[in-house]
Amino acid sequence: MTELDVAQADGSGYHNPLRDPQDRRLPRIAGPCSLVIFGVTGDLAKRKLMPAIYDLANRGLLPPSFALVGFARRDWAEQDFAQVVYEAVKEHARTPFRDEVWKQLAEGFRFVPGEFDDDTAFDRLRQTVDELDQSRGTSGNHAFYLSVPPKFFPVVVHQLKEHGLAESEPGAWRRVVVEKPFGHDLASGLELSKIVHAVFPPDSIFRIDHYLGKETVQNILALRFANEMYEPIWNRGYVDSVQITMAEDIGIGGRAGYYDGIGAARDVLQNHLLQLLALTAMEEPVSFSARDLRLEKLKALSAVRLPADLAAGTARGQYAAGWQGGEFVHGFLEEEGIPPDSRTETYAAVRLEIDTRRWAGVPFYLRTGKRLGRRVTEIAVIFHRAPHLPFGKTATEELGQNALVMRIQPDEGVTVRFGSKVPGPGMEVRDVTMDFGYGKSFTESSPEAYERLLLDVLLGDPPLFPGHEELVLSWQIVDPITGFWASGGAPEPYVAGTWGPASADVMLARDGRSWRRP
Ligand code: BG6
Repeated sequence: MTELDVAQADGSGYHNPLRDPQDRRLPRIAGPCSLVIFGVTGDLAKRKLMPAIYDLANRGLLPPSFALVGFARRDWAEQDFAQVVYEAVKEHARTPFRDEVWKQLAEGFRFVPGEFDDDTAFDRLRQTVDELDQSRGTSGNHAFYLSVPPKFFPVVVHQLKEHGLAESEPGAWRRVVVEKPFGHDLASGLELSKIVHAVFPPDSIFRIDHYLGKETVQNILALRFANEMYEPIWNRGYVDSVQITMAEDIGIGGRAGYYDGIGAARDVLQNHLLQLLALTAMEEPVSFSARDLRLEKLKALSAVRLPADLAAGTARGQYAAGWQGGEFVHGFLEEEGIPPDSRTETYAAVRLEIDTRRWAGVPFYLRTGKRLGRRVTEIAVIFHRAPHLPFGKTATEELGQNALVMRIQPDEGVTVRFGSKVPGPGMEVRDVTMDFGYGKSFTESSPEAYERLLLDVLLGDPPLFPGHEELVLSWQIVDPITGFWASGGAPEPYVAGTWGPASADVMLARDGRSWRRP
């Protein structure tokens, strides 16, 4: 890009040396580089990573020299790998398939077969990466994506170091991307961190929480900090409670090996839900740099208080057989690969408080589960009732509490719920909603979370990646809950297709509240 291009994109008409380095109007195109994926045969690679790479290429956000390297325990030739990527792209890519994009991209595919502890395989990887620098001009810039179970992190990271793959030449970069779960609890999370930090400098480590890549999650920042309407009422003076829901209609599918022994709290509460809580509760960051953003999230997370009585302030469940979407589905214990006496929870709920001036006394109810009524993720900020209602007794019988609902997915948008007069001769007030929907307001369709995050990795742009300290705090919140559950009996069963165990309803009823039916 020439200086003139910069000036035009800048909109100022001249080159401005003080231009905001975060100015997003400049096209964010990755420079020459490769992405090496470990665990390339896994579900995540096929469903999310490969399609996202194609979509980025299709949007013109990858350089022509981009290379994708797969590493796996498969006896594949290069064309077998290309075929796997092709099928993944055909099935899961968001943008239309274009031959010319595919051809250009596929020229940069390489495959390295091998075990993680096989030195010769890592020698071959080293040669492949060097060859790419020569033949495609990837310029020594390589990102290593660990889409593998955490038990393999140490060996892969060690091999990267031993084979000189972790260290960059001056002017080039090496980065490592780690997928959750980043540990099983605080101790194992710290251990993994230590291993990765021993090899890569902190600004080269990208921990993925794909929720942060979602447009609607980033929109929490826009809604809160670009507007004047909401912030003045975003506190205990006006907010009665907050409900954060991540409900899924799917079961565990073929993921028994991963999910059993992990459960809902470690799988999503420790990361996605606590990140949503942090973004909702935090103070305004000085800027959206990684440092400033993490600082505010950290303050919010460190002010989180667990219920004094974990029996009353948490709930867990396990789905039992039932009907969902007109189809009979198995219970968790009948899923293939799950031991019949498994105590793994597929539903988790907790009542948290945040000990700050802004939030003192406002409960944050978090819940997540598999095989629930429907797939929906939302953050509902529920306001106090009006202190006085100057209406006749029956006029407000159908009036609920005002609410602002950030609809994260699938029907992306924001809903405001408030009372309105019912047309007619009398005065009757009933809840109505005002809706913003992405589909209606924007012509651009939202990129997938992984598109955004992979691009950020290749650009070395870290704000949407949680830092090490957030990880520590998140485990500190979750560990006492899972520890408490481990000392109890089996989780309470709930019928697939319903909204979770009765104990979760009791948890809110105790506070005189009830869960929203999204
Ligand atoms: C993952 C969890 O992080 O998020 C899965 O491991 C879950 O269990 C998935 O299904 C949900 O992601 P999304 O983007 O479909 O809400």
